[in-house]
Amino acid sequence: MNFDNPAIEIENLTKEFGKHTVLNNLSFSIPRNKITTILGFSGAGKSTLLKHILGLHQPTSGTVSVLGNNLKDLDPMKLREFRQNFGMLFQYAALFDSMTAVENVAFPMREFTTFSNEEIIKKAEDLLLSVGIKEVSFARLPSELSGGMRKRVGLARGLALNPHIMLYDEPTTGLDPITTQMVNDLIVDTAAKNSDRGMTSIIISHDVKATLRISDFVAFLDRGNIVEYLPVEEFKKSSNPLVQEFINL
Ligand SMILES: Nc1ncnc2c1ncn2[C@@H]1O[C@H](COP(=O)(O)OP(=O)(O)O)[C@@H](O)[C@H]1O
Ligand SMILES: [Mg+2]
Repeated sequence: MNFDNPAIEIENLTKEFGKHTVLNNLSFSIPRNKITTILGFSGAGKSTLLKHILGLHQPTSGTVSVLGNNLKDLDPMKLREFRQNFGMLFQYAALFDSMTAVENVAFPMREFTTFSNEEIIKKAEDLLLSVGIKEVSFARLPSELSGGMRKRVGLARGLALNPHIMLYDEPTTGLDPITTQMVNDLIVDTAAKNSDRGMTSIIISHDVKATLRISDFVAFLDRGNIVEYLPVEEFKKSSNPLVQEFINL
């Protein structure tokens, strides 16, 4: 597939761990301002691919470009700075247990911006409201929040530096069906709210039903290769037997 000005461009990416080839000459690009989901069985290489996109792994060979920057050209300091383009929400929201909701969201701004305390708190509160956390919960600790609310706070924190790319690695794994639906709706809502600045959403998932409901594009990763990559409506009709097997699980 060809996209104008993609968010991510991967060319001939191979990653070996010892004798084990985990990504095998993989090429694909992810469009801006869309929701793209990478589906695949456990062990397919999804998290490894995500770590290359973040520059946390070095390719054995091939190139990874993000927002027009070949990650190879960035030294470790520049790379750390560059990662501010990403927001992340992982399976476990990974909040700081000893910090209130609002302080969790303020944290990246305290680390990486020169905003005043007042500005930081205001922005953190606005972000919390935007993901559906009400004022009564701003000063609560993560242990005083439900699982769904922790996800919301984690998402607000992920958005704190206005990322160009929001990454979700198995954002609903281990959640009950209601919370799962809530998180999926929140991902769509967040993409829509940040669409005017062209934010790209990338989801790693093995939840087929949700993927087919919320994604614009779906890539299927199998044994280190993208074996199918289509707009969601076409993906549903894929004749690839592996994709059909996965969809009908
Ligand atoms: N740091 C590593 N060292 C060695 N092997 C790894 C490492 N990271 C992942 N792998 C292997 O790569 C394969 C793909 O893992 P992963 O990317 O986590 O898959 P997925 O996220 O699709 O479940 C697995 O066989 C895993 O054991
Ligand atoms: Mg994984």
